Amino acid sequence: MDGRASIKGRDPGLFGDVRIAPSLLSADFGALAEQVGEVAPAADWLHVDVMDGHFVPNVTIGPPVVASLRRHTPLYFDCHLMMTEPGRYLQDFADAGADGCTVHVEVGGTDELIAQMRRLGLRAGVALNPDTPFEAVRPYLSDVDLVLCMTVFPGFGGQSFIADVMEKVRRVRAEVEAGALALDIEVDGGIDTATAPVAAAAGANVFVAGSAIFGHERPWEAADAIRESVQAADAV
Ligand code: DX5
Ligand code: ZN
Repeated sequence: MDGRASIKGRDPGLFGDVRIAPSLLSADFGALAEQVGEVAPAADWLHVDVMDGHFVPNVTIGPPVVASLRRHTPLYFDCHLMMTEPGRYLQDFADAGADGCTVHVEVGGTDELIAQMRRLGLRAGVALNPDTPFEAVRPYLSDVDLVLCMTVFPGFGGQSFIADVMEKVRRVRAEVEAGALALDIEVDGGIDTATAPVAAAAGANVFVAGSAIFGHERPWEAADAIRESVQAADAV
């Protein structure tokens, strides 16, 4: 925890800083508040995976669970909307206490979704599947706070990191540097102490991890270990 950025409460922190975002998807859904409490001291953000059974085959949680968790923690809620029609639910997520929402570019209507997130006071993110090219997100880089490069195909936890995505992470980072853009680059899927440094080297700064954290007997230690793996790689 020593190297933790001084993020307090729902402050998202500074663009580009290392952020560890445990993914609730691998937590015990019957004990969510306790699980969040355990991991909170080692977490910067809480990553909330919302799946609608259409954009991805799985179904997970929605605004009522976000509202319940909001009463238990001041953590920044990073909501990843794996939904075909996220626009129908953005208001509900904002009302429930979401801080940032990320929509997939593959569902279309991205300009309007970004505008809607802005109107609602949400931090705005766009996500790309592993096989969606960089060009799909390029038009939005000046308008968003976060680009999420999926390092697995969305839908399930516990899959293997797809290293080919690093080329896209490098391209996003290069554009951010070239344009001095204020945005975070997040990776999600198969992130652990071996793959987080690889993603960091490519330019990612927000690291989502589900099974590597909640699959661990002491989730806070696993989150700290991922942070340390990134910092150690930075120091080289
Ligand atoms: C996958 C989700 C991820 C998932 C990652 O569709 O978006 O956030 O929880 O799980 P791991 O870290 O186990 O790959
Ligand atoms: Zn996710």
